[in-house]
Amino acid sequence: MKDDVLFEVTRECLETGLRGYPVGYCPSSYVEPMKGLYYMDRPISELAHSSPEAVIYLLWYGREANPSELQAFKAELQKRGTLSKSLVDACLQLPKQGQPLKLLSMELLLTSVFEGKNDFREDGLNLIAKIPALTAMMINHHAGWGQKNPSRPELGYIENFVQMLNLPKAPAKGFLEVMKLFNILHYDHGGGNLSTFVGKSIASGLQDMYGSIAGALLALEGPRHGRANQDCLDFVEEIRKSAGDNASVEIIEAIIRKKLANNELIFGFGHAVLRVEDPRATIFYKIAETQYGDHPLVKLAINLRTAGIKVLSENPKISDPYPNVDAISGIVVMAAGFPYPEYLPALFGLSRAVGIARQIIYERCEARGGKGTPIVRPKYFYLGNENVAG
Ligand code: MLT
Repeated sequence: MKDDVLFEVTRECLETGLRGYPVGYCPSSYVEPMKGLYYMDRPISELAHSSPEAVIYLLWYGREANPSELQAFKAELQKRGTLSKSLVDACLQLPKQGQPLKLLSMELLLTSVFEGKNDFREDGLNLIAKIPALTAMMINHHAGWGQKNPSRPELGYIENFVQMLNLPKAPAKGFLEVMKLFNILHYDHGGGNLSTFVGKSIASGLQDMYGSIAGALLALEGPRHGRANQDCLDFVEEIRKSAGDNASVEIIEAIIRKKLANNELIFGFGHAVLRVEDPRATIFYKIAETQYGDHPLVKLAINLRTAGIKVLSENPKISDPYPNVDAISGIVVMAAGFPYPEYLPALFGLSRAVGIARQIIYERCEARGGKGTPIVRPKYFYLGNENVAG
C-alpha cells in the first residue's frame, strides 16, 4: 500500500551507510537474508551452470529466453561487441600501472568518447557486449602480456574474454567453466550494494551509461567492496605462510582467535544482508572441493570455512558468522590457473556491470511510468545547526 510505513528513521540511523533504508525498486534481483541471491525469481544455485548469455538475457528482459531468442541475443551481443580502432588505440595509451579496475573504468570513459550514443538502452547493451574485450585488453596491457589475440565475440561472451587473455602459462582444466561461473555469480546483488547504488545515483544526474558505470566501478574498487576477493586471497596466503600448506582447522582456529584478540580483520566472513553462508560461496566451495581439492590454497580455504564459522559463531554480537562469496571465489580462480590476484576485482567489475546497467535502464527509462526517478538528493543535517535544511 502507498502509505505503508516501510522504515522508521531515528537519529540512530544517521551515519550508518544508509543501512537498510528503502530507496526504490530493483527489476532484476534480490537478496533474502536467510536464502541468498535470486535473479528474477530464480535462486542463484539454479542458474550457476547456465550460459552467461542466457543469464544476462534473464536479467535484461525479466524472463528466460527460448532457444531462438537466445540465439538472436547472442548474435546481438556479438554484433555490438566489437571495438573501434580509435577506441583500442586510445586504451593502449593508458598507463600500465595503478589499480586494474581504475583502468577498466578509464576504458569505459574512452568508450563513451568514441562510441557513446547517449542513449541508456543502446549504450547499456553495447557496454555489456564490449566489456569482456575491454577487460581482457586492459589485463593484457597492464600485465605486459602483449595483445596477441584480437577480439572474436563470435566465440561466445566469456569464451572471447578467455581467448583474448594472453596468459603466460596455459590455465588448468576447467578454467573457462570457472570464469563463466565467476561471471554469472557476480552479475547482480539487489539494488543497494555500493557500486550499483553509486552507478544509479550518477545516472540520476543524467550522466551517460558509460560514465555512470565507470563511476560504479570506482565504487567497486574499494577494499570493502569489490577488492575484498583479492584481500581474502591474500588472507589465505598469509595463513599459508605462517602455518604452512597443511594447517589444520584447529591451527586456523587459533590464528583467528589471535587475530580477533588483536582487533584484526577476519576476511571473507559476514555480509551486510546475508545471515547464512552466501550461496555463491557454497557453489564455489563445491567446485573447489570436487575439482581443485589438491590445491594448497583450496585446502586452507576449506579449513578456514570451518574454523571461521566456529569461532565467529561464538560471538553473539556477530550477526553473520558465515563465509561470503569473496572467501573462496578468488581461490577457485587461482586454482583454475589464473594466479593473478590483482585482477580479481576487475573480474568482479566485468560481471557486475551487467546488473548495474540493467538497473540504470530501469531507473532512467522505466520507473514511474517511464518518467524515471528524480536526481538523487538525500538530506544531511548541518553539524553546527541541526535545524537548517540539508
Ligand atoms: C555482493 O555481491 O555481495 C555485494 O555487491 C555486496 C552487497 O551486496 O552489499
